[in-house]
Amino acid sequence: MNEAQKTPVASQQDRPPAALSSASQQKSAMAEEHTPTVPLMLRFARTYILPYWRIILVAMTLMLMSAALTAGLAKFMQPIFDRVFNARSSRLLWPTGLGVLAVFVVRGFVTYGNAVIMNWLGQRVISDIQRDMFAHLIRADISYFHAYPTGQLLSRFLSDTAQMRTATVEGMTGMGKNFFTIIFLVAVMFYQDWRLSLISIFVFPAAFYFVHRTGSSLRKVSRSMQVHNGDLTSILNQSFQGARHVKSYCAEDYERSRVDATIEKVLRLFTRAFRISASTTPMAETLVGLAIATIIIYGGHRIIIGASTTGRLVSFITAFVLAFDPMKRLANLNNTMQMGLAAIDRLFGLLDVKAEIVDAPDAKPLRLGGATVVFRDVHFAYPDGSEALHGVSFEAPAGKTIALVGSSGAGKSTILNLIPRFYDVDAGIVTVDGQDVRSVTLESLRHNMALVTQEVAIFDDTIRANIAYGRRDATEEEIVAAAKEAAAHDFISALPEGYATRVGEQGVKLSGGQRQRISIARAMLKNAPILLLDEATSALDTTSEKLVQEALERLQKGRTTIVVAHRLSTIINADVIYVLEHGRIVEQGNHAQLLAQNGAYARLYGDLLKEPD
Ligand SMILES: Nc1ncnc2c1ncn2[C@@H]1O[C@H](COP(=O)(O)OP(=O)(O)OP(=O)(O)O)[C@@H](O)[C@H]1O
Ligand SMILES: [Mg+2]
Repeated sequence: MNEAQKTPVASQQDRPPAALSSASQQKSAMAEEHTPTVPLMLRFARTYILPYWRIILVAMTLMLMSAALTAGLAKFMQPIFDRVFNARSSRLLWPTGLGVLAVFVVRGFVTYGNAVIMNWLGQRVISDIQRDMFAHLIRADISYFHAYPTGQLLSRFLSDTAQMRTATVEGMTGMGKNFFTIIFLVAVMFYQDWRLSLISIFVFPAAFYFVHRTGSSLRKVSRSMQVHNGDLTSILNQSFQGARHVKSYCAEDYERSRVDATIEKVLRLFTRAFRISASTTPMAETLVGLAIATIIIYGGHRIIIGASTTGRLVSFITAFVLAFDPMKRLANLNNTMQMGLAAIDRLFGLLDVKAEIVDAPDAKPLRLGGATVVFRDVHFAYPDGSEALHGVSFEAPAGKTIALVGSSGAGKSTILNLIPRFYDVDAGIVTVDGQDVRSVTLESLRHNMALVTQEVAIFDDTIRANIAYGRRDATEEEIVAAAKEAAAHDFISALPEGYATRVGEQGVKLSGGQRQRISIARAMLKNAPILLLDEATSALDTTSEKLVQEALERLQKGRTTIVVAHRLSTIINADVIYVLEHGRIVEQGNHAQLLAQNGAYARLYGDLLKEPD
């Protein structure tokens, strides 16, 4: 049983990412710890079940009816035996038969109605949860997405919610139908023979005891099973998305072995979970056998000595046997509930991680002047502790272009991240037109900047929708105008469906340069006064490069532009160049001045200059 030792390790991944700041880390770690069952269930019921109390009332009524009918059947056995069979009375034979038929027909319809309602409710609750999860996640901090593997998030949406649905449906049916059925049947048992009832009833608490014990281990297995399911989704996602790289590196076997290993883990946990939950069956069967043997011996004895009737005993045994199935279900319910609770626990863990980058209570809309961006003594480390900026100060004057250059990892992209508040500074201040970015509303802040990054984000939608992403009310003319400015109109028009062409996931149906021009068109259309540009490092072919370059120049016109520059032409055209090294600005000036300093900049670009492009 070495899985047992692995479980804590696995549930470690289940915790919120370490990359969150310490305050939220503590908060959410608490939320992810085993929340006691009762508060957890209450919170879930209050949030997601209670709104549907009316339909639940209907379902409960149906369940009560069904339980009463079942108990009625058992009770019915007594007159059937005593007054019809044993009395050899043919007068009551037909009415009795038809009566039993009627009970079954009504019970069938009641059960049908109940099943329809419960399953509707189950899926309804899950849709509400999925909506809540997405609404919450899409507003989560960027750091959350960097720290949480996509697969884990996907698995929350799919397998976690499936578990919650089962738990909801089974839980309510269990508490309604099965519980009432048992109560009514036990009532019938006591009515028929209280001594026999007292002797045989021990089965129920005993079975419950065994099942209850398996519940908590099942919950643990379920938690790590879901984590591994998430891992599987993650790996699949990566392998499929990186299919080209997998092939070019001949890594198919490597990927296969990674996937195999995860599938194997899931399989093992599944088997284990099933074994635990099924382990109650032999126990329950033995107990029931014991009880029935007792009933036959003691009940038979009482009939023989004339203290009871066959009808009573048959009715008693029928009630006992009919109670067996709902009892087993109720007992197993604990297992289903434990699985569901693990998922619910994770759901609230996720919903309780509050976004930290939100509007300040007194945030006002950004009052825009010329759009001057200033960094003053900015210090910043990523939530995982990687220090990225150590006291960066610079000014990007209104309408001017400043270029950030420096070796890889120097902190250039980080600077761009701080302007739209993807992250907040640890010390120092970032201002736009004199206003601290943390004091204005996020919406007004981000509305006024366009971001064109190294990884071009293209959505699996039409080209039109991709360009209009930042301004969904744009007219066709505006979209075409933006595409023309971005030198994208010609290639778009040449596509079979033009602007209505769907570009595939991540824009796989477009070339690298085309993707970049679409994203430039998007920024063009957004027409924001501040432009944040993270130039792609990957070289395009000369024609493509030239088109992109010209499009970018048109985009920069009249905007305050902060560009992480890799192309020499961009750098030379900038009004001021800042050279970064290890999170510090080490040089600044224009191209000629910097070359003359013969320092870091000259080292970076001196070589390039010798062979002009
Ligand atoms: N999401 C992140 N989480 C943790 N650390 C990060 C993250 N992004 C960047 N870093 C770290 O911050 C430092 C600065 O990274 P940054 O992305 O700003 O570099 P860069 O100058 O843009 O480099 P490049 O030219 O390669 O794009 C690096 O040491 C990097 O490892
Ligand atoms: Mg970068």
